[in-house]
Amino acid sequence: MDLFKVYPLYNVKPVKAKGVYVYDENNTKYLDLYGGHGVISIGHSHKKYVARLSAQLKKIGFYSNSVQNPLQVELAQKLGSLSGCENYQLFLCNSGAEANENALKLASFKTGKSRVIAFNNSFHGRTSAAVAVTDNPFINAPINRQQKVTFLPLNNSDLVTDELKKGDVAAVIIEGIQGVGGLDEGTTAFFKELEKACQKRGVFLILDEVQSGYGRSGEFFAFQHHHIKPDIITTAKGMGNGFPIGGVLISNKIEPKFGMLGTTFGGNHLACTAAISVLEIMESENLIAHVNEVSNYFLKQIKPISQIKKVKGKGLMLGLEFDFEVAELRKKLIMEKHIFTGGSNNKKLLRILPPLSITKNQINKFVIALKTLLDE
Ligand SMILES: Cc1ncc(COP(=O)(O)O)c(C=O)c1O
Repeated sequence: MDLFKVYPLYNVKPVKAKGVYVYDENNTKYLDLYGGHGVISIGHSHKKYVARLSAQLKKIGFYSNSVQNPLQVELAQKLGSLSGCENYQLFLCNSGAEANENALKLASFKTGKSRVIAFNNSFHGRTSAAVAVTDNPFINAPINRQQKVTFLPLNNSDLVTDELKKGDVAAVIIEGIQGVGGLDEGTTAFFKELEKACQKRGVFLILDEVQSGYGRSGEFFAFQHHHIKPDIITTAKGMGNGFPIGGVLISNKIEPKFGMLGTTFGGNHLACTAAISVLEIMESENLIAHVNEVSNYFLKQIKPISQIKKVKGKGLMLGLEFDFEVAELRKKLIMEKHIFTGGSNNKKLLRILPPLSITKNQINKFVIALKTLLDE
């Protein structure tokens, strides 16, 4: 059988990884400033993570959600206390799209409404409602286009208010910081207006923290830079450091009902163990403080590079904007300098999403390589 080829592939075959490095079959070492698309939080193959997951696999890897799983409770408590979101309930699933799908479904169940407000250039995943609220017609099939979605520009609260007044909106969904779209984000004033307008109209405010969460922005969740309290928060990527897991954090004011949401694999023993281990390591290695320190260092080091026209994002979720398309630069970084970076819908933006444990030395390596390529 052949693969269903939907991904354009770089000619690199990683076979092992450690910390901030990925190695191919010839043992060539690549500096990972991409984190496999913002997924690697605590670093590749962290010793404690590998040990904990291996031990769990020997005990029990999976059983269904029809029996007690104390690891889910442990994860919920730890996530609540580390993120400062104690007043939420946790529903576990398997991916970012699934987390958003469940968040939107919940908002629709509870409000009895179905229209959603999303924002220009958003990305929320590729499943039914998640892709419908993603601002990319190319990845929306006719079946997805049946959903009622209104896309608005970021940072125009009057337009949001006008839409909410119509009374048919179930949810507003917004990324803490846009990822795939290219690192644009709402201002604090805009987030506060959204919170107020949603509260006033009984509309659910859903913060998609799938990419911007788990410390990547320098706060546990990116919305925490703006001091708001969403009704629902979705998370995935960094949560399992590569082990597939997603989570929906649901405000305590929303009551669950048996059967309302569900999944076979979500919250299984291995996934919970991975997620608990990530939180333990984030805490013991003080990774969020580290993100802020190395992010400041990164920004200082790239400041003199005149070809960079604008820097977007926060923490270790950064976008370097040039006045030319970066596809060739990205390719040269991988093939010649052995450094992975990311791209986005904004073709002039180079995305930086390294494991949160990246060091200043590793940042120096990138800066030297980037300067060399830009000055060629
Ligand atoms: C903000 C955001 N939401 C949702 C998703 C979808 O996550 P997944 O690919 O795990 O379904 C992504 C993936 O890139 C994302 O960046």
